[in-house]
Amino acid sequence: MTERLAVVTGASAGIGAATARALAGAGFRVIAAARRLERLEALAAEIGGEARRLDVTDPGSVAALAAGIERLDLLVNNAGGALGLEPIEEADDERWRTMWETNVLGLMRMTRALLPALRASGAGHVINVGSVSGFEVYAGGAGYTSVKHAARAVTRTLRLELLGEPIRVTEINPGLVETEFSLVRFAGDRERAAAVYRGMTPLAADDVADCIVWAATRPPHVNVDEIVVRPLDQAAVDHVHRRQTDET
Ligand SMILES: NC(=O)c1ccc[n+]([C@@H]2O[C@H](COP(=O)([O-])OP(=O)(O)OC[C@H]3O[C@@H](n4cnc5c(N)ncnc54)[C@H](OP(=O)(O)O)[C@@H]3O)[C@@H](O)[C@H]2O)c1
Repeated sequence: MTERLAVVTGASAGIGAATARALAGAGFRVIAAARRLERLEALAAEIGGEARRLDVTDPGSVAALAAGIERLDLLVNNAGGALGLEPIEEADDERWRTMWETNVLGLMRMTRALLPALRASGAGHVINVGSVSGFEVYAGGAGYTSVKHAARAVTRTLRLELLGEPIRVTEINPGLVETEFSLVRFAGDRERAAAVYRGMTPLAADDVADCIVWAATRPPHVNVDEIVVRPLDQAAVDHVHRRQTDET
């Protein structure tokens, strides 16, 4: 069997990096893509993959990545994240614009650019990393929940549009995962980011990567439409069980 090729966006950190490692472990050749090339090069050296600079908000960058790929088995649209936690009354246009550009337009652009290569493989697969914020909401979260709701609509529409073609479509929807996500959301404020996970046990990036690899390695006639995976300590997006710690 020829080696299967996967592109993972947002592979320089968190869920994307863990997914690149796990896919390589499952026998995929991985193109690890994101903006921070140095991190990707270290990862690629470790897993025997390829590092590619990619900014999903830049159409030229997406086109340059896709131009070199004629045949692709798996696209993992993982690049994304949240910026801020302000109520709508204080919403910041620029933060909202970046969230839409990254989580929604970026996902659309990557999918549009790579669908021909996925089709050419004869058994393609698009796995989008959504979130429980794609179907739940919380106060202060509208910027992020709205983009993940939109990404979910895009994923479900793609599943309809590709019916009859040999391309699977999956959405992975995690709850709280301890990555750089909260650090990015709170602009590098480590204290505030750490508080998100205080007193509870979050998912690790590897837990989500496990789900992605499981979906990707089912037989080609099996489409895992979606997986919702949360920490045991989280029953809903803002319903988290926290134990007393020394710091609380
Ligand atoms: N952590 C959670 O609790 C959680 C829960 C549910 C869903 N998610 C989703 O999971 C995905 C991965 O997040 P994470 O938790 O692993 O966060 P993370 O550690 O902050 O990683 C985010 C990744 O996205 C990349 N990225 C951001 N903007 C990009 C752009 N314009 N172009 C290309 N890559 C870009 C970053 O790389 P560069 O900065 O190097 O470009 C980084 O590799 C996101 O879609 C997030 O919304 C996270």
